[in-house]
Amino acid sequence: MFELIKKLSNAFGVSGNEEEIREVIKNEIEKKVDYVEVDALGNLIAVKKGKGKKIMVAAHMDEIGIMATFIDEKGFIRFSSIGWVSEFYALGQRVRFQNGTVGAVFYEEKVEDMKNIKLSKLYIDIGAKNREEAEKKVRVGDTAAFMGEALKEGDKIISKALDDRSGCAVVIKTIQDLPKTDNEIYFVFTVQEELGLRGAKTAAYQIKPDLAIAVDVTLTGDTPESKPMEVKLGGGPAIKIKDRSVICHPKIKKLLEDNAKKLNIPYQFEILEAGGSDPGAIHLTAGGIPSGAISIPCRYTHSPVEMVDMGDLENAVKLLRESII
Ligand code: CO
Ligand code: ZN
Repeated sequence: MFELIKKLSNAFGVSGNEEEIREVIKNEIEKKVDYVEVDALGNLIAVKKGKGKKIMVAAHMDEIGIMATFIDEKGFIRFSSIGWVSEFYALGQRVRFQNGTVGAVFYEEKVEDMKNIKLSKLYIDIGAKNREEAEKKVRVGDTAAFMGEALKEGDKIISKALDDRSGCAVVIKTIQDLPKTDNEIYFVFTVQEELGLRGAKTAAYQIKPDLAIAVDVTLTGDTPESKPMEVKLGGGPAIKIKDRSVICHPKIKKLLEDNAKKLNIPYQFEILEAGGSDPGAIHLTAGGIPSGAISIPCRYTHSPVEMVDMGDLENAVKLLRESII
């Protein structure tokens, strides 16, 4: 599992530029399903044919990042965010553009009080002499991802992009070891989730499944002075009840809870006060689709040091497998 997550989280895939991560995932699953297709927006859809229920499984393959907006005379690059990027998390990090160019993110020296830090006061330094030299490597409109290679510490993984490459890993493992079933399953690795659940929306409309289950990360309430929240790292996969984009269908919540009990694995309930997820788009599509989600507890989400628990991932695989066969 760790090796797979390392491979996935290292791959480039800022929202709207998912080409590289899509190839990596495609190579992992192609031989295990009946066919694989890429739709107009770039969603990767892997289909296991069958005559039973039509099920959509979704995990988003995009990651947050930045987009170059302006390059000054000295070659410093200004940027805006792709998805929710914290100025505090961005400061002092390294970013990598799709072509491999690496830069340091730093701030204007006249910022004296960290409270005044804004993304607009940060810039990327790729070590170029001037604008002309910078433009040979980075053009306005290019996107870059934060760097933070996956490392294992005990039974925890620390990495960038665990949101949602850890969810992608859970779905890939499920595909690679799928038991016989009559159900027709559409495993969708969605694009542009971080920009507003965009890929999931069009994919669900095209597929029109009987039900949908997404796999994504969720926040935890177990760090110093964190907001009160039920979810703990290592407490088992969380069954989503609601976030700001969806109230999960009671039927899907029950399906997931019944299966967690049957498998005798730990589980918890997720009520996420901030943020949305793919089921938010899926459940409102094509006349309405009963939707729910398995959420992986993740500390420090949207930072380059996101943290997940291996046991939660293994149990998420078991729970997803049992719920779609
Ligand atoms: Co996210
Ligand atoms: Zn996510």
